[in-house]
Amino acid sequence: MEVEQVKSELITAIYDTDSDFQKQLILNPNKLCECPPNHINCITAKEWIKAQIGVWQFNYEKRDIRNRDLHPATFPISLATQIIKLFSHEGEIILDPFNGSGTTQIAAQDLKRNSIGFDLKREYIGLAFNRLKDNSLLSSTNHSIIQDDSININKYIENDSISLIWTSPPYANLLNRKRKNKSRRGEERQNEQFGKIEQYSQDPRDLGTMSIDDYTEVMGKIFHNLLPLLKPKGHCVINVPDMWWKNQRITIHVSLINELRKRGYELRNTIIWDRTNIVNRIGIFGWPSNYITMGTTFEYLLDFWRPPTI
Ligand SMILES: C[S@@+](CC[C@H](N)C(=O)[O-])C[C@H]1O[C@@H](n2cnc3c(N)ncnc32)[C@H](O)[C@@H]1O
Repeated sequence: MEVEQVKSELITAIYDTDSDFQKQLILNPNKLCECPPNHINCITAKEWIKAQIGVWQFNYEKRDIRNRDLHPATFPISLATQIIKLFSHEGEIILDPFNGSGTTQIAAQDLKRNSIGFDLKREYIGLAFNRLKDNSLLSSTNHSIIQDDSININKYIENDSISLIWTSPPYANLLNRKRKNKSRRGEERQNEQFGKIEQYSQDPRDLGTMSIDDYTEVMGKIFHNLLPLLKPKGHCVINVPDMWWKNQRITIHVSLINELRKRGYELRNTIIWDRTNIVNRIGIFGWPSNYITMGTTFEYLLDFWRPPTI
């Protein structure tokens, strides 16, 4: 195990964890704001009305990671910001079990929330650590980034302590194939991404290597372990698209909704992340005989919670 730390900022990266470290993340789960106890967030009524619209759009900003060699699949900081504002208060703890480049943690740091992120890949732990360091606001929030399989998260964190789980997991093994750049024409198709497999790793624990059935089962086990860590009525929001594979629609969102319901989560909302404003290349798929919507134009934000009675 190896630890890297910015002490003044309470930013900690832990690489190659072993059993010695488990159950040592001691964080205060209480909010620091003055909001009344029955409020689920710190936003105003005006912001609330805006957030009730169930289709959202976001833009990337300068601090976002768009270099696919650093990480192939990041969401915008502004998306993480919206989710964190909706489902937590200042001072509370946000967990991202598939942390990647640490975008969730950057938004949490901006918003004075504490955060914990897990990822399998060493490079991503370092990337998130450096981003948090650079984004440092000299606030007293606490951010831990841990290299471990997310199936083990419950060994690090106390029950009833997390206010929000927010994440974008891998999409089974649907990206584990060579890029064909079908939305590009002519010479442009043979760009630097052509023929590359844009996968996080080939580690057998990586959800991006699994068939949809194995993936669904492992996701079920991971989220089963995470449920008791949430505070009652704490939200768990998962970002997934559906995909096409061999002319079949693979409905990842349906598999996940069914699996998480089996594990005790309650689905509260389905929000559409409309990506049409950030998709810049449109290829022609299926014309003229087979109608196929472009998967990249929208994704689901599945909002579950831990029911108050569990
Ligand atoms: C879609 S990416 C997350 C990207 C992140 N939202 C961002 O903005 O950078 C999914 C991440 O899950 C990680 N991952 C895959 N299987 C995992 C596992 N079993 N435990 C922990 N992390 C895993 C991958 O390494 C990858 O970084």
